Amino acid sequence: MTSDPDAFRPVWLNEAPTDSYPRLHGDHGVDVVVIGAGITGLTLALLLQREGRSVAVLDRGPVARAGTAHTSGHLTAVPDISFSRLIAHFGESGANAAVRAGMAALDTVESLCRATGADADFLRVPAFRWTARARDRDELEHETELAARLGLRASLVDSTPLPFPVAAAIRFEDQAVFHPVRYAAALARAFTAAGGALYADTPVERVEAGEPCRVHAGGHVVQAASVVHATQTPVGRMVGVQARLTPMTSYVLVARLASPAPPGLYWDTDEPYHYLRPLRPGSDRIVAGGSDHKTGQAGSDEAFARLEAWLDAHFGVTLVERRWSFGLFEPADGLPYVGMAGGGPEWVAAGFAGVGLAYGTAAALLIRDEILGNQNPAAELLAASRVKPLASAAEVVKENAGNAWRLVRDRLAHADAGDLAHVAPGEGRLVDVEGHKAAVHRDEAGRLHVLSPTCTHLGCIVHWNAAASTWDCPCHGGRYLPDGRVLYGPPTEALAGLESRPAPQPARGEILNSGGGELASA
Ligand code: FES
Repeated sequence: MTSDPDAFRPVWLNEAPTDSYPRLHGDHGVDVVVIGAGITGLTLALLLQREGRSVAVLDRGPVARAGTAHTSGHLTAVPDISFSRLIAHFGESGANAAVRAGMAALDTVESLCRATGADADFLRVPAFRWTARARDRDELEHETELAARLGLRASLVDSTPLPFPVAAAIRFEDQAVFHPVRYAAALARAFTAAGGALYADTPVERVEAGEPCRVHAGGHVVQAASVVHATQTPVGRMVGVQARLTPMTSYVLVARLASPAPPGLYWDTDEPYHYLRPLRPGSDRIVAGGSDHKTGQAGSDEAFARLEAWLDAHFGVTLVERRWSFGLFEPADGLPYVGMAGGGPEWVAAGFAGVGLAYGTAAALLIRDEILGNQNPAAELLAASRVKPLASAAEVVKENAGNAWRLVRDRLAHADAGDLAHVAPGEGRLVDVEGHKAAVHRDEAGRLHVLSPTCTHLGCIVHWNAAASTWDCPCHGGRYLPDGRVLYGPPTEALAGLESRPAPQPARGEILNSGGGELASA
């Protein structure tokens, strides 16, 4: 255990500006409301503003502190699906459109870095997908041919800058690294300096589709002709999209090595794959990720231990300085869902898997074009409407409730019966409190937060994520803070307190808080 309070914060947050933005105050009318102030939302806001549109951006928390801050800072046009599967799903012209959208996104990031003066360390680098297994060489050779056919500058190589031999690797030219939070901060500054409205700490409660749409947040209403959900997965009950996204959890370390980290981007052919980049060019610190699993289906301690052991075996780690985990959303067919959802003027940008910095930017370019009425070559390919409509929301609720129950049945069956004293400081657990299942967290000050474990989106059961100190929902990736407030994802309401249930018997030394849901140490 470490006593460093920053040890579980993404490294990008320690090196980022601390700009603050106001909460939404008063009612407003704009052309476009963007929900989500991460890389997708801020890029879109700036691009639309440059076309003369008035835009308001609303975010549940501070700017760029959720998905964007928790990535590993990889910028690659290589989609998070093999080229052979990409072509099998979308044909060669579709696959080509996807790759071109990714490459255009990298060019856009580069030009916006220049235009905004972002202090984001943008650097073009080669990327390597490598294998240590000789039997994978033929597959990588085939993938290299496909990548080149689709327009990427790709070649098969036998060696890389990695400090160990590989059996083969695909080398992709012109990929990039950057500092994601400094970049997002520069976009936000440019947008607001030009008169854009950016509201932080303003959770959206509901969107009423119509002409105009009405976005309810913080007791106020913003009217707009178009509303864009730029939040990795839509906020609220957009179940047609949400049911086709698999929420995943990934883990990242920043480790100090005995020698400089190899330059470039790297990922391997393992399942789940490992991904690497130097923290900065020439640095002896490496940013390494992996150990992905479906949200709610594994523990973070084991995931970090596996990743750390793998990194040490391959690089020789002298010190792990930082660990964090993050949620991502895998689309059912390998490409994100981007475009108008349903019949109304609501737009969605969701399901970026492990390449959200590039494909989130691609989504912003696409939605900008569609709102302006311009053609975009990836519009049909990525259309959110390629999702087949489901028979009914009730069907989805039933399906997800069933999944969730199977996922947590064993955990609930073995919930600790009523022994709140066994919940250690900093820990969260599902506990049986006098016959009622409860999500219980004890904060570092010793206070117990006792909540309903039922996700307020569609009723699945949440799971404690020790790496992030959050309650995570395995069904659609909703995340809650230890006190039950929504951190991100589809839910719009906090986990309920248990004040309406029989009060748990206080353990020795604890006093039940009359406000319900929270216990305080005496
Ligand atoms: Fe959908 Fe929890 S049930 S996020």
